Amino acid sequence: MSRVALVTGGTRGIGAAISMALRNAGYKVAATYAGNEEKAQAFRNETGISVHKWDVSDYDACGAGIAKVQDELGPIDILVNNAGITRDAMFHKMTPQQWHEVINTNLTGLFNMTHHVWQGMRDRSFGRVINISSINGQKGQMGQANYSAAKAGDLGFTKALAQEGAAKNITVNAICPGYIGTEMVLAVPEKVLNERIIPQIPVGRLGEPEEIARIAVFLASDDAGFITGSTISANGGQFFV
Ligand SMILES: NC(=O)c1ccc[n+]([C@@H]2O[C@H](COP(=O)([O-])OP(=O)(O)OC[C@H]3O[C@@H](n4cnc5c(N)ncnc54)[C@H](OP(=O)(O)O)[C@@H]3O)[C@@H](O)[C@H]2O)c1
Repeated sequence: MSRVALVTGGTRGIGAAISMALRNAGYKVAATYAGNEEKAQAFRNETGISVHKWDVSDYDACGAGIAKVQDELGPIDILVNNAGITRDAMFHKMTPQQWHEVINTNLTGLFNMTHHVWQGMRDRSFGRVINISSINGQKGQMGQANYSAAKAGDLGFTKALAQEGAAKNITVNAICPGYIGTEMVLAVPEKVLNERIIPQIPVGRLGEPEEIARIAVFLASDDAGFITGSTISANGGQFFV
């Protein structure tokens, strides 16, 4: 029987690449999204992967959505917490709303999702939780106090939960992408990308979503059973922990 994987924010960008790579590796996959119907329906039509809309910052919506996915595909064995947003502003201009939106999605979203699948993973003595953090959670980034705090929090969550899951054969790991060529990054003005961001990346280019997806597929596999609580950086040499 194929294992079941759920990828939040799995309909575009890095998440879409992860959904497809897991499907191509033989998993039954469901992908979630927040509200971009056009992208989600196009993704479903192109890939045949089922898509589900709910907000990861809403605990009850996560519970209801996960129950529906489990009814369709079976118990979730692999959870990829990928959904994330930016609301960038220098701290002196950052509003409480910008702070809370990012914390609620990028950090509390991990609690909201993982809490609903954790007991099932414990009961079945197998699970993989893969959290998509960021280079900016490792090094901090000007204009992203909210995002850097949330993504650093994701790493603490990963390490704590890894210790709880270990005896039950549940691994919990984080991936910290550097700058990857998705809509989130391509929204940055081209001049800023070419003159300020790419020159900071020793390999001289943005990463590709598929380069992150291949790490997720490995972490999901039985081969990665001894890796837990780890943070895997994929940033083209931009930052070493
Ligand atoms: N791109 C990068 O360079 C980079 C670098 C480091 C880390 N990351 C992290 O990697 C992850 C994916 O980034 P990306 O660039 O692929 O992002 P993206 O292209 O903007 O896609 C984000 C995905 O998350 C979904 N989403 C956003 N808020 C949500 C919410 N509250 N509930 C449910 N789904 C939600 C979006 O749904 P809709 O389509 O409906 O909006 C979309 O599917 C994020 O966690 C990001 O922080 C990205």
